[in-house]
Amino acid sequence: MTAAVSASAPGKIILTGEHFVVHGSYAVAAGINRRVRVTVKPSKNGFSSIASGKDSSKVASEDGKFRAAKTIIRKLVQDYEQNSNPIEVQIDSDIPAGSGLGSSAAVSVACTAAITKYFGNIVSSKDLFALAMFGEKQVHGNPSGIDIEASISGGIILFNKSTGAKTIKTQNRVSLGVIYSGEKRSTSLLVAKVARQRDAHPNFFRNLTKSASYQSLELTDALNRGDVERIGTLFNIAQTELEWIGVSTPSIQKIIERVSGEGTYGAKITGAGGGGSIIVAAKPQILSSLINSLIANYPHSFVTQLNQEGLRWEP
Ligand code: MEV
Repeated sequence: MTAAVSASAPGKIILTGEHFVVHGSYAVAAGINRRVRVTVKPSKNGFSSIASGKDSSKVASEDGKFRAAKTIIRKLVQDYEQNSNPIEVQIDSDIPAGSGLGSSAAVSVACTAAITKYFGNIVSSKDLFALAMFGEKQVHGNPSGIDIEASISGGIILFNKSTGAKTIKTQNRVSLGVIYSGEKRSTSLLVAKVARQRDAHPNFFRNLTKSASYQSLELTDALNRGDVERIGTLFNIAQTELEWIGVSTPSIQKIIERVSGEGTYGAKITGAGGGGSIIVAAKPQILSSLINSLIANYPHSFVTQLNQEGLRWEP
């Protein structure tokens, strides 16, 4: 009997360029210290199934659950209904779904890696990216691929849809605060909303897309130097532009106001917005106490260093 296989992949934050990256800009993303672990083993039930926490579903069922993972399983397990060797897929995640922290991408990446290895086929990063994108397209509609790329590679990446990802090195370890607002949102609806903005104001949007690229290139330099103050300034510029395209919300504004003050350099939405999460750059001496002061109201608040490991095998 085939042994169980486990893989884990990190969630992500986007530091600059979300949304504009779908329309061709550069963007910067990083893996975070919150992961999804996927275990694949032979099924005892005679059918393929998937489970996470208290929720479970047959892979063959069209109940709307686990859409990304099911798309990948169906792609990889041809004729799954008649398959003589059905599988059981277990997902353990410490990334809240719908929080803008890349949980669906991490599920897609860890699922693809664990299932392909289970079937005796370790795929290259390029093939893994292409397979994991099948899952991401189920959830995102028109994904740029940045979430999948950041989850595979971990670390920090400068990403562009046409040219792919380049690793960004930092001289000093940079840490950022991450705060989940608790407001769930749908990435595909937000991406569609932004596409309508682009169609309504094409010239304005083209300039914002260029601006996102300049911010991402300048951020690459700030990260290289470990210059947290400049990183924060770029976050504030990016946030203003994300507000202009309509993806900020009162709950996001409230958190940004709450973290602004002595020792904070800047804060912004991370990911699609419409709720979700914010990131904050602050003086290293105050970052932990700032984040701890938010936990009572926002339990998913944490500090992450930007040197997290990407996809890895688990025992
Ligand atoms: C979502 O994490 C980032 C977006 O830019 C969409 C994408 O790039 O696929 C909003």
